[in-house]
Amino acid sequence: MTSFEEPAITRQGVDEAILSCEGLTKAFGGVNAVNGATFDVPRGKITALIGPNGAGKTTVVNILSGAMKSDSGSMRLGSTDITNWERYKIARLGLMRTFQLSRELSGLTVLENLLAAPKVQAGESLFNIFFRPRLLKREERQNIERATEILRTYGLYDLRDNRARELSGGQKKLLEISRGVMASPSLFLLDEPMAGVNPALIERIGGYILDMKAQGVTVLMIEHNLNIVEKICDNVIVLAEGRTLATGRLSDLRNNPEVVQAYLGEVINAGTGH
Ligand SMILES: Nc1ncnc2c1ncn2[C@@H]1O[C@H](COP(=O)(O)OP(=O)(O)O)[C@@H](O)[C@H]1O
Ligand SMILES: [Mg+2]
Repeated sequence: MTSFEEPAITRQGVDEAILSCEGLTKAFGGVNAVNGATFDVPRGKITALIGPNGAGKTTVVNILSGAMKSDSGSMRLGSTDITNWERYKIARLGLMRTFQLSRELSGLTVLENLLAAPKVQAGESLFNIFFRPRLLKREERQNIERATEILRTYGLYDLRDNRARELSGGQKKLLEISRGVMASPSLFLLDEPMAGVNPALIERIGGYILDMKAQGVTVLMIEHNLNIVEKICDNVIVLAEGRTLATGRLSDLRNNPEVVQAYLGEVINAGTGH
């Protein structure tokens, strides 16, 4: 039964790549949004995906999570080739991403949002619905317990019965992250988890991401704030014009003239670290 399949990617082992992609391309009309992106995401680490606006970062995350199909190139999750797989199948292997709250989700309460988070549930199986109702009851109870625990951790527990649309911008960010956490991902992709968020909350979200790593979750995050990248990320991938320009530690990349020219220059010169 699918609900009891072992995930093909696990949280153990820190040396090899949990995800490898090679030569990914995606064009929209005449725009080559992704144009040969090739990189590895090391298991058990926090990796930042950085690059100028329009570099193709979000499109890469869309491709990796199966929300969008690449035109060419390949990707591997653990030992499984997942090129052009459907999103739900990729999620089943343990890859989860944050999504901006849709209109539908905005109408649900905070708690309901977590309970509706995408995951492989026993309730999806017709066999279970008809023949194992007690299993479903137990699972429902466990889901509520787990959601409650996550909401407490993320400081959203007191807001559990509020509609998501009533939350502040920062609280919405926390909810988006909590929904992903609910699915217990092995690899968690975050698209600008700290964008538009106040400095205190940036620090808090940084702490949550470090906690995820401590629990064995691999994180790939798109982030513009290089101060936070420097603080929490082990590894950085620089994307420019849809291509991987460089990978390494941020401190090394600061000395890479190509990187400085393409991206860091404008950031450093702007002097904002943003
Ligand atoms: N759904 C889409 N339809 C048309 N063009 C798109 C779409 N998504 C992204 N693009 C274009 O692809 C390029 C890369 O966009 P994106 O991946 O969002 O970059 P980033 O996240 O690095 O800012 C941009 O030129 C953008 O306008
Ligand atoms: Mg983007």
